[in-house]
Amino acid sequence: MNFLELTKKRRSIRQFISKEVEKEKLNYILECARFAPSAVNIQPWLFFVVQSDTKKRELQKAYPNRWIDSAPIYIVACADFEQSWKRSYDNKDHADIDLSIAIEHICLAATEQGLGACWVCNFDPSICSQALELQNSIYPVAIIPIGYYNTELKPSNRKAIEKVVKFI
Ligand SMILES: Cc1cc2nc3c(=O)[nH]c(=O)nc-3n(C[C@H](O)[C@H](O)[C@H](O)COP(=O)(O)O)c2cc1C
Repeated sequence: MNFLELTKKRRSIRQFISKEVEKEKLNYILECARFAPSAVNIQPWLFFVVQSDTKKRELQKAYPNRWIDSAPIYIVACADFEQSWKRSYDNKDHADIDLSIAIEHICLAATEQGLGACWVCNFDPSICSQALELQNSIYPVAIIPIGYYNTELKPSNRKAIEKVVKFI
């Protein structure tokens, strides 16, 4: 599978089967996240791998859509805003950019390993922070449910290339 094929294969998976995710695959995915680039190589991230039923239930309270319950694993990608790089010109914080790259590495790595994943940002961050007992500078950016799936997916819907690319 070349990179374009991988990017097209990666889809938001919102229904999982109960098959367990192998430890090696999980480690591989986390290693792909760890090697993501970040501004000034600060790596201002922390990844929580949530597998216990108790913690999963606590996290599920942060996201009201029940499809997420079917995932065997949640990775919660958190940013450390005390560490992240701020551009001197305008103080722009780069934590969200750094985290986004790492999160997409997770989603693409999961896809390559035959697993499904989904970015989830529409959750209540205070419930999530409480569940993970996060200190103030650590902020949950995305919950990424991961697991096996067997759903058929419609082709991706994307804007035409002429609409989003300008050669000048
Ligand atoms: C930053 C971000 C936040 C997202 N948050 C959610 C979410 O909270 N819930 C959800 O079901 N999907 C979420 N998604 C998935 C998008 O809906 C999805 O990527 C988009 O519809 C394109 O579909 P595809 O991923 O299958 O290509 C999010 C995606 C991104 C990149």
